[in-house]
Amino acid sequence: MKKTIREVKDYVGKEVKMGAWLANKRSSGKIAFLQLRDGTGFIQGVVVKAEVGEEVFQLAKNITQETSLYVTGTVVEDTRSPFGYELQVKELEVIHAAVDFPITPKEHGTEFLMDHRHLWLRSKKQHAVMKIRNEIIRATYEFFNENGFIKIDPPILTGAAAEGTTELFHTKYFDEEAYLSQSGQLYMEAAAMAFGKVFSFGPTFRAEKSKTRRHLIEFWMIEPEMAFMNHEESLQVQENYVSYLVASVLKNCQLELNTLDRDVEKLAKIKAPFPRITYDEAVTLLQEKGFDDIKWGEDFGAPHETAIAESFDMPVFITHYPANIKAFYMKPDPERPEVVLCADLIAPEGYGEIIGGSQRIDDLDLMKQRYEEHQLSGDAYQWYLELRQYGSVPHAGFGLGLERTVAWFSGVEHVRETIPFPRLLNRLYP
Ligand code: 4AD
Ligand code: MG
Repeated sequence: MKKTIREVKDYVGKEVKMGAWLANKRSSGKIAFLQLRDGTGFIQGVVVKAEVGEEVFQLAKNITQETSLYVTGTVVEDTRSPFGYELQVKELEVIHAAVDFPITPKEHGTEFLMDHRHLWLRSKKQHAVMKIRNEIIRATYEFFNENGFIKIDPPILTGAAAEGTTELFHTKYFDEEAYLSQSGQLYMEAAAMAFGKVFSFGPTFRAEKSKTRRHLIEFWMIEPEMAFMNHEESLQVQENYVSYLVASVLKNCQLELNTLDRDVEKLAKIKAPFPRITYDEAVTLLQEKGFDDIKWGEDFGAPHETAIAESFDMPVFITHYPANIKAFYMKPDPERPEVVLCADLIAPEGYGEIIGGSQRIDDLDLMKQRYEEHQLSGDAYQWYLELRQYGSVPHAGFGLGLERTVAWFSGVEHVRETIPFPRLLNRLYP
């Protein structure tokens, strides 16, 4: 049976055969070093002319980048290699020769790389980022399963907007108008009333004309929703969840963090509890930092979030935003109804808001009043109102943006490198 690079550690001293691609190579008159990758990892294959003979050696010297191969050789431990093992090659068999692979080891511009995203994904850095993404997803399921949550899948095609109506993707649904989901939240509220503690993980869509390092048109969100929970209890779930993700990535992605030159000391500090400041305090902090433009009642932009984050080496919760800049479903603070029981979690190091969450309105009359204020159509939301009609309970939830979290953990500047095929304002291909 063929082996993968991930498995070679169990075959030290033994001969294995594996399928691989040539990532890079170096050679002299007597020896060739093949950097091999197979998706599970990277390993160096060493081809010694005196051992393999002229024919195999010439083959090794002439293989081009991204040619696919079967390689047979003996696994040896090698402490100098970042992967710990090396393959002493005996035989090589070309499956398919790649000619002029466009992404060479030299530097390329971003647009060129994005045009070749389908091939760029093979590079070491992109591979590391996707492995970190995968670890966050794995740890998410583990965390919520261990904490008594059930995974529920909200629909992607919806008839009602959860967040702002200006950012909806419209589509025909036979004779009706439908939208691509901006958030599964409204459905997750229904699910929380049926299952108590639930979470979702799925794609969401925002027709936002934003071209920033933090915005994607299509992104993936993890949305937990919890019955019988208030705002403060939800914050505790959030900080425990994010701390769990950090610890899992530090434990299981050492090689990847290393490949990305990530400063792991900064990540190692991230542990619950996280600091909390109110929106009011955040406004004062910004004014002290010289942001004269910000006035109470206005939303924060990316520069504001970054400035706030600089005051902490932890993610920070900004709580109690003014009701008029937040979504219709957020519960007003009973002691101060002009602000709502909500929080945004701002990541350190300028990665911005990674979580938005709130306690939800559970009172039927207040929810009806919000519908009118926000001019939401009664028909599309009738079912959502009924959640407040039959055994309504205090409940809260939040949404974590996967790509921004991957960017933060990986230390990559732009979210476009944190999803396999990014959908951006000016990009639908590949
Ligand atoms: O703050 P948002 O809009 O919150 C909601 O959608 C709530 N309904 C979630 C809930 O309570 N169930 O989005 C949540 C998170 C943001 O904090 C951000 O991390 C991410 O989703 N996000 C984006 N990520 C990439 N590109 C975009 N355009 C994003 N918009 C939001
Ligand atoms: Mg938000």
